[in-house]
Amino acid sequence: MKISVVGTGYVGLVSGTCFAETGVNVTCVDIDQEKIDNLSKGLIPIYEPGLEPMVKNNVDKNRLFFTTSLKDSLKNTDVVFIAVGTPPDEDGSADLKYVLDVAREIGEHMEDYLVVVTKSTVPIGTAEKVRKTLKEVLDKRNVNFSFDVASNPEFLKEGDAIDDFLKPDRIVIGTDSQKAEDILSRLYRPFVLNGHPVISMDIPSAELTKYAANAMLATKISFMNDIANLCDIVGADVNNVRRGIGSDSRIGNKFIYAGTGYGGSCFPKDVKALIKTADENHHSLQILKAVESVNENQKTVLVRKLRQEFDNDLKGKKVALWGLSFKPQTDDMREAPVLSIIEELTKEGAIVSGYDPVAMDESKRRIGNAIKYVKDQYEALIDADALLIVTEWPEFRTPNYNLMKKLLKQNIILDGRNIFELQEMKDQGFTYYSIGRRTVKQ
Ligand SMILES: NC(=O)c1ccc[n+]([C@@H]2O[C@H](COP(=O)([O-])OP(=O)(O)OC[C@H]3O[C@@H](n4cnc5c(N)ncnc54)[C@H](O)[C@@H]3O)[C@@H](O)[C@H]2O)c1
Repeated sequence: MKISVVGTGYVGLVSGTCFAETGVNVTCVDIDQEKIDNLSKGLIPIYEPGLEPMVKNNVDKNRLFFTTSLKDSLKNTDVVFIAVGTPPDEDGSADLKYVLDVAREIGEHMEDYLVVVTKSTVPIGTAEKVRKTLKEVLDKRNVNFSFDVASNPEFLKEGDAIDDFLKPDRIVIGTDSQKAEDILSRLYRPFVLNGHPVISMDIPSAELTKYAANAMLATKISFMNDIANLCDIVGADVNNVRRGIGSDSRIGNKFIYAGTGYGGSCFPKDVKALIKTADENHHSLQILKAVESVNENQKTVLVRKLRQEFDNDLKGKKVALWGLSFKPQTDDMREAPVLSIIEELTKEGAIVSGYDPVAMDESKRRIGNAIKYVKDQYEALIDADALLIVTEWPEFRTPNYNLMKKLLKQNIILDGRNIFELQEMKDQGFTYYSIGRRTVKQ
């Protein structure tokens, strides 16, 4: 089988590479010439564990190709996946410009039957818009090639993307064409040999499934953060509450960790877009509106705790940040809570230094020299009045406490990910704030 994947970002590059891994001939297409040049030289534009050797292996075996020419990629192709970005428009709805640009270009160049699949996260009705756009272009060309559309949302998570793609919990295929369903089921067969289902459905349900999944996960996070903030007030411990409820099999123990709020390229924009879709259909998704508002507030919970420690005066205070990416194992900083934290801290005159194992370049690209960048987690602590732990990278979990105390001006830690035990912090002599747990004072 031969396929094209248009958009070579997190989703497109991982999907294309994993399909190639099963023996499929894959061409990844992007409009970004530099990205394609780099990929052709084996340089991977994103940090994703395991991706680089897999790309190299499939390029070497002549199964994975990179190009800026969608036209060339369509020759003898059976399926084309649209995996371009769908960023939020000014009003919160998903901007479909890139998806429809690709649909138009496919229409201009296709020469035979094609299955055109939206893999980007797109609102209900998008596959129909793709169908209409393609049809209009084909009519203009005065040709009558047949094609089918399908919605095949992607559920991979950054940092674990390869494993998620190779061993998905489920594959969702939304289409009204048996032929398209058969082709896509065949393409995905190697990924569901573990017995996980390929769930076929109508197109609008498939489109909504992706948003509903992300909205549910975001809801779990905001729910737990709301409970954590109540724990802070009433003296309960959110970790105990989490264990207490997570052991109930109806609730489960995943995604119920309190923290500094969700970020990244998906949850914030997808929650917004789903709220917008519902509003446009005169239905107010009240739970999701609350989820969003709790999350906005949660992003700066560490700054509020820091103000509390320093009597509302952060001017001139030196603050160390551990972690800049929105979660571990990625350099992605889109909508990362740290951006709100840095904005608040610098607005109030704090001097911030930051360290992240992989996101330093991305941070420089986004916020320039708004903070000082240091070469390791300990250098950030030199003369700092407090340490804020923002991302739970594994290397922050068992640090050298003696060295920390030697470097810090004041032994104050604010932990946005609850990575340390309270008793240990007490024994080590730190003032320790965390999320939804008792504050330990020196
Ligand atoms: N990142 C994730 O973890 C994730 C997970 C599931 C779903 N998604 C969804 O998948 C989609 C893609 O997300 P991403 O994170 O991979 O985006 P990304 O920004 O990393 O990559 C998008 C790529 O598309 C390219 N592009 C834009 N217009 C193009 C065109 N006309 N022709 C060819 N290439 C073009 C861009 O240059 C870019 O390289 C989004 O809808 C997103 O919501 C993302």
